[in-house]
Amino acid sequence: MLILAIETSADETAAAVTSERKVLSNIIYSQILLHKKWGGIFPSLAKRAHEERIDWVVEKAIANFAKVEPIHPEGAQARNMQKIDYLAVTQGPGLAVALEVGIKKSVELARRYDKKLIAVNHLEGHIYSPFVQNSQGNPRREFKFPYLALVISGGHTEIVLWKGHLRYQILGETRDDAAGEALDKAAKMLGLGYPGGPIIERLASEVNNKDFFHFPRPMIKTKSLEFSFSGLKTSFYYYLCNMKTSPVKKIRELSSSFQEAVFETLLLKTELAIKKTGINRLVVGGGVIANFYLRKLFRDLVRKNDGEVLFPPYKYLTGDNAAMIGVAAFYKKEKGNFVKDLNFDRVPRLRLS
Ligand code: KG4
Ligand code: ZN
Repeated sequence: MLILAIETSADETAAAVTSERKVLSNIIYSQILLHKKWGGIFPSLAKRAHEERIDWVVEKAIANFAKVEPIHPEGAQARNMQKIDYLAVTQGPGLAVALEVGIKKSVELARRYDKKLIAVNHLEGHIYSPFVQNSQGNPRREFKFPYLALVISGGHTEIVLWKGHLRYQILGETRDDAAGEALDKAAKMLGLGYPGGPIIERLASEVNNKDFFHFPRPMIKTKSLEFSFSGLKTSFYYYLCNMKTSPVKKIRELSSSFQEAVFETLLLKTELAIKKTGINRLVVGGGVIANFYLRKLFRDLVRKNDGEVLFPPYKYLTGDNAAMIGVAAFYKKEKGNFVKDLNFDRVPRLRLS
């Protein structure tokens, strides 16, 4: 049972061939270099780059899996597509003009090769990412529902009660900036480049006093599981403006203290969610969980609470990719959850339900 999955919700053009939880082929074309100078995703550039790359990425994903070189692209594609059972695509949330490119391609293939199509919520993909396996079926993690599922990325910060396959309840999310977005914006203010998360991680690892400046931890006094990172960003900005010496002299301490404020907020809210629900098993997905220090903080937290935590087993599964979309799609297929009308639309603010 093979699924060809396509993901274009933000700045990665991605396609993968998956079989249940196994990834047989995975192609990601990142647009990071394109967006670097803007310090964030520039929509019209993203759309054009997706359009330019989507055919190549899909071709490559199916050719890689089938080990057939696309010498005569049309003929090879038709032969390879015969082996594919279903198509899957990210419907949202994400950038409208970017989502449209992936949907258009998947609909075109569904029509041409008469395949059923599965629409996947991008967040669902991140939630399933710790369970994605390599082509050999590793790691062999079992599902032990219920989980607290966290998605921590450039676009999202969500705590979700994951009750069972495809059964979610959002417990808390950000009211404004996402955690990764906050890191990216702080890095930009420090002149560090994009994406900021990995640069901040490196600088923070070089300092002893990790919380030198102790910036505010937003919304930790409330008992709600909501996040808000835009106030933290503003106070960081004013702090930089009012510094008597050049921020460059304290670049490591500033990076680390900002990271501490974001991460401690994430950890405090997660602990609150554990207390509220009594669930001490966590799964964490999204670009920010590439951060080793944040992984350690989560490990410490679950140890304290006699729980466990699962992260994406391979780095490429932290950021956006189509493999996690294909794996989530498998569980939707099991429930007969297919797109009924191929004229369906992207949903930029699609919510988990
Ligand atoms: O999941 P992702 O690739 O895209 C979205 O769906 O948003 O996440 C990208 C985010 C960016 O904000 C980036 O700075 C952050 O993940 N990120 C990191 C690290 N690697 C990527 N943040 C902290 N530490 C890292 N090592
Ligand atoms: Zn994402």
